[in-house]
Amino acid sequence: MDLLAHLYHAHIGELNRRVAEICLRENISGLVIHSGQPHRQFLDDLNYPFKVNPQFKAWLPILDNPNCWIIANGQDKPRLVFYRPVDFWHKVNDLPDAFWTEHFEIELLTKADHIAEYLPKEITQWAYVGEHLDVADVLGFTSRNPDAVMNYLHFHRADKTEYELECMRRANQIAVKGHLAAKNAFYNGASEFEIQQRYLLEIGQGENEVPYGNIVALNQNAAILHYTALEHINPAQRLSFLIDAGASYHGYAADITRTYAFEKNRFCELIDALNKVQLAIIDTMKPGVKYTDLHIATHEHIGQLLIDFGLANGTVEQLVAQGITRAFFPHGLGHMLGLQVHDMGGYAHDERGTNVAAPDDHPFLRCTRVLAANQVLTIEPGIYIIDTLLEQLSATAKLAINWQTVAELRPFGGIRIEDNVIVHHNRVENMTREFGLVD
Ligand code: GLY
Ligand code: MN
Ligand code: MN
Repeated sequence: MDLLAHLYHAHIGELNRRVAEICLRENISGLVIHSGQPHRQFLDDLNYPFKVNPQFKAWLPILDNPNCWIIANGQDKPRLVFYRPVDFWHKVNDLPDAFWTEHFEIELLTKADHIAEYLPKEITQWAYVGEHLDVADVLGFTSRNPDAVMNYLHFHRADKTEYELECMRRANQIAVKGHLAAKNAFYNGASEFEIQQRYLLEIGQGENEVPYGNIVALNQNAAILHYTALEHINPAQRLSFLIDAGASYHGYAADITRTYAFEKNRFCELIDALNKVQLAIIDTMKPGVKYTDLHIATHEHIGQLLIDFGLANGTVEQLVAQGITRAFFPHGLGHMLGLQVHDMGGYAHDERGTNVAAPDDHPFLRCTRVLAANQVLTIEPGIYIIDTLLEQLSATAKLAINWQTVAELRPFGGIRIEDNVIVHHNRVENMTREFGLVD
C-alpha cells in the first residue's frame, strides 16, 4: 500500500474518534460538515476562487468542489455527499477514486438545493459545521458551529496525525524547489513579476492553488510586511530579495521565507546573523516550551544584533524595554501551520476554549501555546527598516538609534527567514532545511 494511503487509514480513525468524543460530550448525534458555496462577485456573473471549509478538507483532499457534505458521527463509516451536477458550462468533478474513497459511503448530489434529502432526519440533533449559516438555518439546523465543538476541533488541530505530517513534508518539498528556482531567477536579473512566474511554474501550482499570496519583494519593498504587488519593471539597482512563498499538498500548507543579498556586504552579514538566531531558536523547541517564551527570547537575540550591527546603542534589556526591538521586528515569531497558513487554535489553552491571549506588548503574536509533539509551527524572525515604526518611538528611544546605519540599510528593505518545523518528543524536524533550503 502507498505510504499516504496507509497513513490516511489512521488519520480518519483519529478524526472519527474525535467526532465520537465531542458528540458524546455535547450530547449530539454527529457533525454535518459543508465544503462551502461559491461566492459571487458584486454586480457580476463570476465567482471568486472557491476556498473550501478547512474543517471539510481535514477529512479528505477535495479542495475544489462546493456543495459537498460530510456526515459523521464517529461510529459509522462517514458519508460523503459529493456534488456532481449536470453542467456543460463548468468542469464537473469526476466521481472520486482515490486512497481515501473506501473510507466513505459516497452518494452523488446533482442539484445543490436537494441536499435536504440526504441529511439525517433528526436534524436538530446534528451540528452544522460550515460557513453558510443561512443555508443551515433553512435546512433546519439549530446547532451551527457550536462553540464547544469548534473549540474542541480547533484545539486538536494542533496535534497533527502522521498523515498530516507527511502532507506537510510534501508541501515543504514542493515549496523548496520553487524557492531555489526563485533565488536563481533573482541572481539572474528577473523582475518581481518574473520571479513569481518562475516560482509558480517550478512548483506546478497556480496563484489560486498556493496557500497564500506570495510576497516577492526586491529592495525596499521587502520592508512592506504584506507586499503582494508585483513590479514588472526592474529597479535601477538590485540590492536585496525577500520571498515569502508556500505550496499546498492535499490542502496542507507550506509557508517559507528567504532573504538574499545581491552582493556580499553588511546586509548580507545581517542575513547570516539573523539566520543563526533563527536556527538557535529552533534548537530550543521541545515539548513543554511556551511559544511566547521563544518569541521573547527572539527579541533578546535581535536586541543583540542591533547592537552588533551598530543599528542601536544600549543594553539588550534597554532595547527590548524601550520598544526598539519591536520597531525593527514588529510581527510575531510565527504560528501554527496546517490546513490553514495561520492554523486555528494558536491561542487555545485547552479543548474547552480557554484562550491565552498574546502579551500586551506583543499583540501580533499568533501563537501562545505550549509546544507538544506533532505540532507544526513556523519560526520566522525578521528585521526591517520601517520608517513609520521608527518614527513612533519615544524621544529617548530615538536617541538610542544610530540613524546613519538605518539610512544605509533602508534601501535593502528588510529580512525574514521562515522555516516550517515539526516538534517531536525528542527532536525537532526542520522540514524546510531538510528538503534542501539550507540558507
Ligand atoms: N506568509 C504569511 C506568514 O508568514 O505568516
Ligand atoms: Mn508564516
Ligand atoms: Mn510566510
